[in-house]
Amino acid sequence: EYPEFVKIVEVGPRDGLQNEKEIVPTEVKIQLIDMLSGTGLPVIEATSFVSSKWVPQMADHSDVLRGIQRAPHVQYPVLTPNMQGFKDAVAAGATEVAVFGSASETFSKKNINCSIDESMLRFEEVINTAKEQQIPVRGYVSCALGCPHEGHIEPSKVSEVAKRLYAMGCYEISLGDTIGVGTPGSMLKMLQSVMEEVPAHALAVHCHDTYGQALPNILTALQMGVCVVDSAVAGLGGCPYAQGSSGNVSTEDVLYMLHGMGIETGVNLAKVIEAGDFICNALRRETNSKVAQATGRM
Ligand code: HMG
Ligand code: MG
Repeated sequence: EYPEFVKIVEVGPRDGLQNEKEIVPTEVKIQLIDMLSGTGLPVIEATSFVSSKWVPQMADHSDVLRGIQRAPHVQYPVLTPNMQGFKDAVAAGATEVAVFGSASETFSKKNINCSIDESMLRFEEVINTAKEQQIPVRGYVSCALGCPHEGHIEPSKVSEVAKRLYAMGCYEISLGDTIGVGTPGSMLKMLQSVMEEVPAHALAVHCHDTYGQALPNILTALQMGVCVVDSAVAGLGGCPYAQGSSGNVSTEDVLYMLHGMGIETGVNLAKVIEAGDFICNALRRETNSKVAQATGRM
């Protein structure tokens, strides 16, 4: 049994662009988001309010958030690792935020400079303040299928972190295969464990495609009742704190698979391909989307 409708969370403008070495002009980021806003995508992660010393590419977060033309019915969440990020995000007009934890102790320290327990304290403050302002909070669990430093991660560790974020009030938990090492086998085991703590309707999968396993991993998650999928236009992306990890699964390829299965998304594939062409031209690079490559040739 597959879901009838899958919600796509477009993370290209954030997860995709955060990993670009050359600074992408703010106007290009804004135009990309504006093009994506016209595709029917319900959620577009716009930027992140992290330290510009750590991630210089996201230094223009406030200008991006202020510069975009918001479409009705589209959410534009932004990453906020702590209260400083949350306050800056709200000041720039954020109406939804995301906190990002990890199932790996080492990755937590390298990525956000604190232990998992410390990160939970920071997130609790962000989530409680967001609640007072009726701002929904999404929660990420990175390294859900493996860590660049620790290797194998126990499913029980993932479910523990997911449970804590859900209990604190995150409305949705996105399980990140940060370095794209998972397979349908490890996805199945991890989800079985997480679903003992968090209901399927509150889960999303966030697959990087380093080992080419993202689509089968997503299919496995759909079979288990997950109906929210994170993806990036043109398969942009990677994580600056996960060496060698490639981009997210491409939105175009996910849409092609879902629509081919008769699953609705409300998203216009042709328009996403156009947005992908735009950003690939701007970055002077080839798309990572097989579907965009194939349709470009025909
Ligand atoms: P820190 O250095 O530990 O923070 O950074 P601190 O509280 O000790 O403060 C040190 C300095 O940072 C101070 O400035 C603060 O003002 C400043 P100074 O006095 O030295 O001039 N600072 C900030 N500046 C801007 N925005 C803030 C902020 N907080 C403190 N929010 C911090 C902690 C988390 C900020 C830092 O480690 C950081 O920015 N890390 C970057 C993390 C990141 O963006 N990673 C990539 C996204 S996660 C990802 O890609 C995975 C995901 O896609 C899922 C998956 O694939 O699995 C989500
Ligand atoms: Mg990611």
